[in-house]
Amino acid sequence: MASIDAVRPTPRHADPDLVRERDRRHVWHTWTPVGADRSGTTFTHADGYRIFDLDGREYIEGSALNSTCGYAHPEVVRAVAEQAGRLHQVDVSMTSHDLLGALAERIASYLPAPLGRTLFVNSGSEGFDAALMMAVGHAAHRGRPRSRVVAFARGYQGATILGRSLSALPRCRHPMTAPLPVTLVDLPLPPRELRRPEALPVLLDAFERAVLADPDDPPAAVVVEPFLNVGGGVVLPPGFLAGLRALCDATGALLVVDEVFTAYGRAGAMFCCARDGVAPDVLVSSKGLAGGYVPIAAVTAGEHVFEGFAADPVIGGLRYGHTTSGHAVACAAALATLDVLEKENLVERAETLGARMSARLAHLAGVGEVVDVRRLGLVVVLEMATEEAALGVLDRARAGGLLLRRQGAAVMAVPPLVIDDAGADLLVERLTAALPSAD
Ligand SMILES: Cc1ncc(COP(=O)(O)O)c(C=O)c1O
Repeated sequence: MASIDAVRPTPRHADPDLVRERDRRHVWHTWTPVGADRSGTTFTHADGYRIFDLDGREYIEGSALNSTCGYAHPEVVRAVAEQAGRLHQVDVSMTSHDLLGALAERIASYLPAPLGRTLFVNSGSEGFDAALMMAVGHAAHRGRPRSRVVAFARGYQGATILGRSLSALPRCRHPMTAPLPVTLVDLPLPPRELRRPEALPVLLDAFERAVLADPDDPPAAVVVEPFLNVGGGVVLPPGFLAGLRALCDATGALLVVDEVFTAYGRAGAMFCCARDGVAPDVLVSSKGLAGGYVPIAAVTAGEHVFEGFAADPVIGGLRYGHTTSGHAVACAAALATLDVLEKENLVERAETLGARMSARLAHLAGVGEVVDVRRLGLVVVLEMATEEAALGVLDRARAGGLLLRRQGAAVMAVPPLVIDDAGADLLVERLTAALPSAD
């Protein structure tokens, strides 16, 4: 890991007030209420699982959704720098570069057949636009036009109009016409019950009803995450993906799985679907792929989906792509990240470390304002009784040197997969100290 000295703040950070003032005056922060000030916690450098702010305060990073090999990992930093100096980008709609096939092949090597054909984009949201074009196109190619999509009401597939129209989360509301007909599935049970094996038939029944809701308009796709991240850190029952695979096979819908958050070790497996022995028709992955060093997302489809696009009347292929799709620096960062994941056994470690952390927190479930403690891989979720309680935990944790995430009333600890045992223990201590007192 890089030494902290190697990443000390540069003189451009000499005046913290000026840095904050520029931010307050000129930056439009993503997903942020107007008037909220995000400059209060401005980071300048980081190393491994530790991150430092403008005032030199150190935090444990427990909020980085895409951090697999942590900050300033020398192998990823070297790969990025070398590739930027060799060939940073070409237009992959007309040509190729030497890392593109290597990365696509590497992704395919982790996945069950027939998943083997990858389209690269820059974000999970873009990935979903492409995935839905694939699904709707696939139905048309088979001479059975379909466009309806079945998805979780509490799912989150992205910020584009298409992605957000697949969700009923308040953050996804928009004043524009929904591009596709969508049938949303509400959680049939509260999250603390949904992860249990007994919940499986109830959940599958809810999806079956949505798929069969309109026999004259069968769905083109069923779109799901194996774990609802933005929807509140919701763990789903074992067998869910396999059950949906059977439902899709029986009804001719494509199974589109969103592993934007779960893939590349976060869930304690390279891919949840591979661990469960389920091959979706289309799989979208992103966050951990290049460890957050450079934006990249992968839309991996079965050959049956790919080949059908030869029938497209305009270009004889998928009409989709971006100027920076398949960016060579992003591919180099991804290949280096995957090497680190394998060399440092980070995927297996995510599972053992997550289990150890949640075992230390499990006794808190049902105590005071903690409603539930649950986990998937190295994501530990404490569901609080109210959003206010969750906000309080986040604020106190930050003051105590720990960054956490919050989705509704769920507090989530999502540390880089490289966090060591001492860091994980300290995270648990700081999280526990940030909880409201139980009396
Ligand atoms: C499960 C899931 N899908 C899709 C997305 C959208 O990805 P992006 O923010 O890269 O557009 C996210 C982002 O949080 C996500 O968690």
